[in-house]
This record gives sequence, structure tokens and C-alpha cells, in this order.
Amino acid sequence: MKLFLDTANVKQVAEVAAWGVLDGVTTNPSLVMKEGKDFKETVLEMCKHVPSVSAQVTATDFEGMRKQGEEYASWNKNVVVKVPMTTEGLKTLKHFKSKGIRTNTTLVFSPAQAILAAKAGATIISPFIGRLDDIGEDGMNLIAEIMEIWRNYNFETEVLVASTRHPRHIVDAARLGAHICTVPYDVFAKLPKHSLTDIGLKKFMDDWAKVQGK
Ligand code: G3P
Repeated sequence: MKLFLDTANVKQVAEVAAWGVLDGVTTNPSLVMKEGKDFKETVLEMCKHVPSVSAQVTATDFEGMRKQGEEYASWNKNVVVKVPMTTEGLKTLKHFKSKGIRTNTTLVFSPAQAILAAKAGATIISPFIGRLDDIGEDGMNLIAEIMEIWRNYNFETEVLVASTRHPRHIVDAARLGAHICTVPYDVFAKLPKHSLTDIGLKKFMDDWAKVQGK
């Protein structure tokens, strides 16, 4: 499974990329707003670290999304154009597919939306599981349904589990065979940690100090 960082913070990307486990980054307008930095500069900095950086269009009509997306794609070959899951978005996905521009369909909340985005030629679809959990639904069940459907057909579209909230989301997504998980920094930082690792390492170090002192 590929792991992406869900952020618009370049320092976070550099840090996790240095661990050797980062395959990409997803950004969105809310994350960019939070950081308050120039969007193009942010995307281009991130492209130095990973081969896939999703940059979201902010137009909502086909012509506007086409124009914005083509501009983003011209910035760097690592840019993936993020397009919302609407009928205008579907037209835009089809267009970018024909131009060889990679896309990520955002705001996917149902298996039917997932099927349409795949048929329109999305490179990636992003079902948002945490936001479904937030309204009392089972977000991970959406991933299970999509992966079941994907096994029946030969869709090339990768399933990216978005809106993850805790480490168990990443493990469950991997067990279901999802292709990618995008993870916020605070959740990513929890993934390498285990209290028994800390306790075990401390004991090894303490015992080694005793060997040295002998
Ligand atoms: O990148 C989009 C998605 O991961 C957003 O997550 O936490 O705002 O629901 P969240």
C-alpha cells in the first residue's frame, strides 16, 4: 500500500519523506488556507520530495477546471490534478485522461460515485471515510464495498482512503487491499511508535551501559 501525507506543510513532507516511506501528498483548499503559504510554491516544493502531489482545482465548471488543471499539470510532472466528484468533474476527468494528465477525484462518498469516476478515467479516487464516521456511518464499509467492486472488474483507478483519523484506519484500509492511504501528519507520527518498542529499547540501552561499565 502506498502512503501519502495529507497536508500543505512542506516541512512535514520533507520530514516524513526522509523516513523513506512516503509515496505522495494530498492537499486541498482547506489545508492550503491553514498554512497561509503560496499555493504554487508549496506544490513545487513538495514535488521535490514525492512523485505524486494532488493539487485541487477551485473552479467548479468544466472549462474552469480544465484551464486550472492544465496549468497545474504544466508546473511539474509530479502534479496530480484533484477534481471534485460532480458531473462537471466527470467531464473534466475524461478530458484529462485523453491528455495523459493524472487525476484524483475528491469528495467520493458512495460506491456509485466511485464507479462513475473510474469509468470517466480517474487515476485515483478519494473516498472520505472519517467524514462518513462523523455522521454516524461506517466509512470503512465504503472502502470494503469499493474494493469488492474493483475485484469484479479491471478498473485501473487506484483507491485512496482519505479523511483518515487514527492508525487503525490505515491498518484496516491495508487489510481491505486499498491502494493508497492519505494520512494527516499527527496520525502519521503515531505510526512508527509502540510503547513496548520504547520500553524494549530503553532496556537494551540500560543493559549495554552496564556491559560498558563492567
Ligand atoms: O484530503 C482530503 C481529506 O483527507 C480530508 O480529510 O479530515 O478534512 O475529513 P478531513
